[in-house]
Amino acid sequence: MSTILVVDDDKATRDGVARTLKSDYTVLTAADADEAMAVLNVNAIDLVLTDLRMPGRDGISLLRDIITAHANIPVILLSAYGSIESAVEAMKDGAYDFLTKPINLDHLELVVHRALKQRHLESQNATLRTQLVGQTALGRMLGTSDAMQRIRDRIRQAAPTPATVLIQGPSGTGKELVARAIHALSPRANAPFVAVHCAALAPSLLESELFGHTKGAFTGANENRKGRFELAHGGTLFLDEISEIDLATQVKLLRVLETRTIEPVGSSEPVPIDIRLLAATNRNLAEWVREGKFREDLYFRLNVVDVNLPPLKERGEDLPLLCDAFVREFNPLLGRSILGFESDVLEAFKHYTWPGNVRELRNTVERMMVLAKGDRLTLADIPENILNEHVTIGTPINPISEKDEATRIRVVLNTSKNKTEAARKLGIPLRTLYRRLKTYGIQ
Ligand SMILES: Nc1ncnc2c1ncn2[C@@H]1O[C@H](COP(=O)(O)OP(=O)(O)OP(=O)(O)O)[C@@H](O)[C@H]1O
Ligand SMILES: [Mg+2]
Repeated sequence: MSTILVVDDDKATRDGVARTLKSDYTVLTAADADEAMAVLNVNAIDLVLTDLRMPGRDGISLLRDIITAHANIPVILLSAYGSIESAVEAMKDGAYDFLTKPINLDHLELVVHRALKQRHLESQNATLRTQLVGQTALGRMLGTSDAMQRIRDRIRQAAPTPATVLIQGPSGTGKELVARAIHALSPRANAPFVAVHCAALAPSLLESELFGHTKGAFTGANENRKGRFELAHGGTLFLDEISEIDLATQVKLLRVLETRTIEPVGSSEPVPIDIRLLAATNRNLAEWVREGKFREDLYFRLNVVDVNLPPLKERGEDLPLLCDAFVREFNPLLGRSILGFESDVLEAFKHYTWPGNVRELRNTVERMMVLAKGDRLTLADIPENILNEHVTIGTPINPISEKDEATRIRVVLNTSKNKTEAARKLGIPLRTLYRRLKTYGIQ
């Protein structure tokens, strides 16, 4: 049952309105604006009916407070004859409607019913919107490999809970993407997502960046400044590169997580915080704990749920999908209409180690698209370093298939001045190269 708050300094009006609405709604009453705000702060109110003229703060001032603190509660004003102008004015401030006194009780019921119905629809839409945005964020994490499917499942499971998540994986594997997807699928999706790149800040700055500082706390602190914890209030705080936090700050962070309060630098006044914490690292944090570089107790607090992203090299089957997606992403941005890749390009990609993982792949595709002459990306468009590594790393380690070798030879030929240079890059005598060209029928 919906709950309605009736605010009027005149007891007879309050009681009259309450009596009319009582059969269909829970009704609470207040005699002035301050009392109304007090009631609003501790009750889940669905709608407010307030008198316009009251001793102390008037209905418009109350309306503004409600809009600031409880944006989606509809407010209906009750105005005596003669103050209609102010009531109309209040509509511009965001009032849902106004009724003139003496109140027509049938009309009152109708307007209240309509406002509540609209509010219900709006909140339903907001929920749907959140689900949609969440699905979209998850949809941006491409990959059909088992690893990626497991990661998406883990995100779906963990997102709705308040659990801290530790996201681990080498550089460029999508840790930030995971963090954003978790936030987008969580009940905090409409509140802020605040990211802190811990490695980018000197230890002395990191503490005030996280917890804020008071005016005069240190040289240069010219005014009070809120930290990221406070800025993320109600939302999600993402601590990226968490391994880079020095031991002293680790102790403070642990205390914050235990007490759920922060103390800005220069203040001993604890400030309560309400955040969901996500952390990421491209180090093996368990190893750092063993080596004494990271506090074990903090590690356990962070690692309630873990998401481990494998290097791109270990999920080569995701390459075609990713490449395709990046081409489609960059075509409009670069004003190009690249259709796709020659198949031996993907072959060459599969042999490369991708130390920069998905980020490197994305940058590589973009660069190839900028420089490409035709409307398909070919071996000739692949940056030299990828080809070279593809050769030197691939050759000695794995016994290679004929198909792989043929591709490799074609790739190297394409980027060499002549066959002598190609043979040198391949690490085989020129004579052998000629023989292979014949075997594989390469021109
Ligand atoms: N599975 C994926 N599908 C599509 N794009 C991805 C995927 N993983 C990563 N990316 C893209 O790769 C780039 C790097 O991802 P992200 O910034 O999340 O990596 P990271 O792990 O945080 O890297 P770093 O450790 O360097 O901070 C981004 O452009 C991101 O959109
Ligand atoms: Mg990152």
